[in-house]
Amino acid sequence: MSRGQGPAEDGAHEPPIVFFGGKGGVGKTTMAAAYALNCADAGLRTLLVSTDPAHSLGDALQTRLGDRPVKVADALWAREPDADTAVKRRIGEVTDDAYRALPRDIMPAVSRHLEHAASSPGMAESALADLLMDTMEEVPGTWDRLVVDSAPTGHLLRLLALPELLTPWVRGLARQRERVLDADRLAAGILGGPGEAPDDPLLEKLHARRHKLERAADRLRGDAWVRLVMIPRRMVLAETERAAEQLAKAGFRLGPAVINQVPEDAAPEPLAAARRRFARTGAVELALTPGEPTGMPALRALGARV
Ligand SMILES: Nc1ncnc2c1ncn2[C@@H]1O[C@H](COP(=O)(O)OP(=O)(O)O)[C@@H](O)[C@H]1O
Ligand SMILES: [Mg+2]
Repeated sequence: MSRGQGPAEDGAHEPPIVFFGGKGGVGKTTMAAAYALNCADAGLRTLLVSTDPAHSLGDALQTRLGDRPVKVADALWAREPDADTAVKRRIGEVTDDAYRALPRDIMPAVSRHLEHAASSPGMAESALADLLMDTMEEVPGTWDRLVVDSAPTGHLLRLLALPELLTPWVRGLARQRERVLDADRLAAGILGGPGEAPDDPLLEKLHARRHKLERAADRLRGDAWVRLVMIPRRMVLAETERAAEQLAKAGFRLGPAVINQVPEDAAPEPLAAARRRFARTGAVELALTPGEPTGMPALRALGARV
């Protein structure tokens, strides 16, 4: 079934956080589930998370999943975070921060902006990214390995870039807050109040949040890699190549690619091109199976090769 050269790097070098990315329908969910099951079988406490708002991990595992991690096998937990819940939580947090850090007179405009943002498609992604950052803090610790089943390419690129995109916003809020505190302190000094700076819970929270974003941005480059999944078709290969370039340019590491659904009887032309293009990271090749590889036994068989 497997006809590839195998992963370029042996298991010992695999980072603790592994993303599966690629064009829609190529087999990201299937590969993520198969790989996670394989990690769990090797004794690693593994969490498999879907960041695709259109979850399908449960279908691949043939199990009902939910907003919280569900144990699906020995050492394997899976989670399909509810995007609406995550959005509500995130809007709540951002509004709260803004309310306390920004001048009152601009709050109506900020509230309108946030209300608008809540219903924008990017918000679900950003809320799921936030949740992912929290989960990353549990690796290592609660989990030995985190496997992420990503939404199609464009979403994944935005997801990975989000910590950097959010940092200026949080930094700006912290600066605003510092200004307000300075003014308060000055006023207190003039009025003969205590000269010492009081601890400010909001400022502490904003600093903690900024650190979390910066840590996430670092760890997404140092402790993670992206495994691009593709099928041997020209259009898919073209998109995958672009994704590989963009990811590398943004400083993310690429793990061994997966060339999935390779017909047994014929070697389509794009297969050779895909092999050449992904020779450096290595590429695993998986055959097109007659049936859909869902459920534990089928995933286990695939996982040993992914
Ligand atoms: N090697 C394979 N052989 C046959 N069918 C496959 C293979 N890999 C995935 N599939 C099927 O292809 C469809 C899309 O796979 P999925 O993992 O959901 O892709 P994605 O997450 O990239 O959208 C599913 O029906 C899945 O069972
Ligand atoms: Mg999927």
